Amino acid sequence: MNFSIENLNVNSKDQKEILKDFSLTVKPGEVHVIMGPNGTGKSTLSKVIMGSNDYIVHHGDIKINQESILSLDTCERSRKGIFLAMQSPISIEGVTNSEFLRTALSSKQGSNVGIYPFIQMMETAMKDLKMDDSMMHRSINQDFSGGERKKNEILQMKILKPNFIILDELDSGLDVDSLKIVCDNIQQYLKENPTTSVLIITHYTRILDYLHPDFVHIMEKGKIVKTGDFTLAKQIEKNGFSCVIEVSEDNVNE
Ligand SMILES: Nc1ncnc2c1ncn2[C@@H]1O[C@H](COP(=O)(O)OP(=O)(O)OP(=O)(O)O)[C@@H](O)[C@H]1O
Ligand SMILES: [Mg+2]
Repeated sequence: MNFSIENLNVNSKDQKEILKDFSLTVKPGEVHVIMGPNGTGKSTLSKVIMGSNDYIVHHGDIKINQESILSLDTCERSRKGIFLAMQSPISIEGVTNSEFLRTALSSKQGSNVGIYPFIQMMETAMKDLKMDDSMMHRSINQDFSGGERKKNEILQMKILKPNFIILDELDSGLDVDSLKIVCDNIQQYLKENPTTSVLIITHYTRILDYLHPDFVHIMEKGKIVKTGDFTLAKQIEKNGFSCVIEVSEDNVNE
């Protein structure tokens, strides 16, 4: 899909200005990266794209194929093919992974997905991700370890088959082997779905060694202040943000 954000201004409900005149265009099949100091609005951006009710968009637009999606709720945006792997995936007690995913997939397809083909699909996807079978029947993320939660996000991606994927710090919490497994799965998915676009939010370049970016954007105080290629990410990792932007005192680097 052609995805664009035009001059977006977003406040929190308590009137904190978070995104300021934020613009970004992502074409089909492109991989974009956003890096930026803590608290610059990266996760807020991802949640606003998904239609979170915690924020107020008071100027600008978010469009898919030139059509505004601002009036759509989260479910409708998800049905349009947008997917967010959250920085801190939430747990939902009493709803199992399989119930949730079968309902979500049925809603996306507009018809009930049969239990047997669905279980088969889940088993294959979980095997690909080297996830324990028992996780299918456990409540969503309930008592999952940090890394297991991140893998579970990619399980959802594999089942729901989105065409615009946002990965918010997918790499935080995954051990080296798990990061490789997860990235191999995403790479395979992109190979099979070459028009799918990805927006990666990260503090590290390790994930970019697997998912090669076309563009790297540096975000500061709610907007993109610099765009480059993979070498820009390497430069940031080596020298910090101060080599490309003026890091304000209230931005604390990890
Ligand atoms: N619902 C909210 N209400 C009030 N302030 C908020 C809300 N959501 C986010 N903020 C604030 O907005 C700023 C941006 O937060 P955000 O989580 O988007 O940062 P980030 O760039 O993802 O940082 P990190 O790299 O640490 O994950 C922070 O100062 C945060 O405290
Ligand atoms: Mg964040």
